[in-house]
Amino acid sequence: MKPVFTSHNIRLDDGTYTRPDAPEGFFAQGSHADLLYWSESVKNMLNLIYPQKNKSKISLVDLGCLEGAYSVEFARMGFNVTGMEVRDSNFACCQYVKDNCNLPNLKFVQDNVQNISNYDAFDISYCSGLLYHLHNPREFLEKLAVKTKKVLILQTHFSLENLDPKGFYNGALSQNTFHEGLFGRWFSDRPENLTKEQLDEARWASFDQSKSFWIDKNDLIALLKMLGFNTVLEQYDHFEEQVKTKRSSQCHMEFNSKNISEFLRNEYPRYMRGTFYAVRS
Ligand SMILES: C[S@@+](CC[C@H](N)C(=O)[O-])C[C@H]1O[C@@H](n2cnc3c(N)ncnc32)[C@H](O)[C@@H]1O
Repeated sequence: MKPVFTSHNIRLDDGTYTRPDAPEGFFAQGSHADLLYWSESVKNMLNLIYPQKNKSKISLVDLGCLEGAYSVEFARMGFNVTGMEVRDSNFACCQYVKDNCNLPNLKFVQDNVQNISNYDAFDISYCSGLLYHLHNPREFLEKLAVKTKKVLILQTHFSLENLDPKGFYNGALSQNTFHEGLFGRWFSDRPENLTKEQLDEARWASFDQSKSFWIDKNDLIALLKMLGFNTVLEQYDHFEEQVKTKRSSQCHMEFNSKNISEFLRNEYPRYMRGTFYAVRS
């Protein structure tokens, strides 16, 4: 039986999609997961770093992979991909996708990302929508850096010292504070004391603890350098898609900018989310 997909609209080998009724502009532009806002820009960067046609010897881990859309996209590029997901509900979707896509270079493991130290190192770590769900993000990044041979990609929320008065997350964010030696803010991620079933059903939320720590953007960049990545970049081009569609991946946010420069001035400080690359070059 097909499990319920909450977000990723993935093209399967028979031409059908995992969320055929996905609303236009919400997570899927034109209702196709392979046009996800960030997917194309990340793929462009990976092709710049790894221009070779045969990518089968390059390993990539997709951490907190949800329903597997990004893992599938990277496997279709030819990378040797491991998608890691902890929740039963999400993992069932990953398995369904695996069964319906002929991609021998794609596998999914059901595990907590905190166990990353138990794995062999990967050439590329793709960490999208996960870091800001963690209580101790620095400890996790330190473990992940050890297991990342060349490229760490972070698609993540961050904190800013001064919140925009119209910030999308202001109500859920604490005052500025220090945690793990980093500046940032606590975020109320999900209710505490969920039953095992409720925790599984909170499909996009933090898994281990109800409060997560959003690292200040400046400290995040400095930390990536400290972890031994000599090149650290932020990517902006994907915001064009968000400007066009007027939506973020979260349906409660509407963007009104006309172009990237307006977006960066007005909406980026409210959204507090970006794509960062840390590369051993
Ligand atoms: C907001 S979703 C992001 C999903 C996907 N990476 C994306 O960008 O669309 C967060 C994902 O991380 C998973 N997750 C949260 N904590 C985790 C943990 N400790 N170990 C593994 N997965 C975790 C959740 O189950 C969920 O699939």
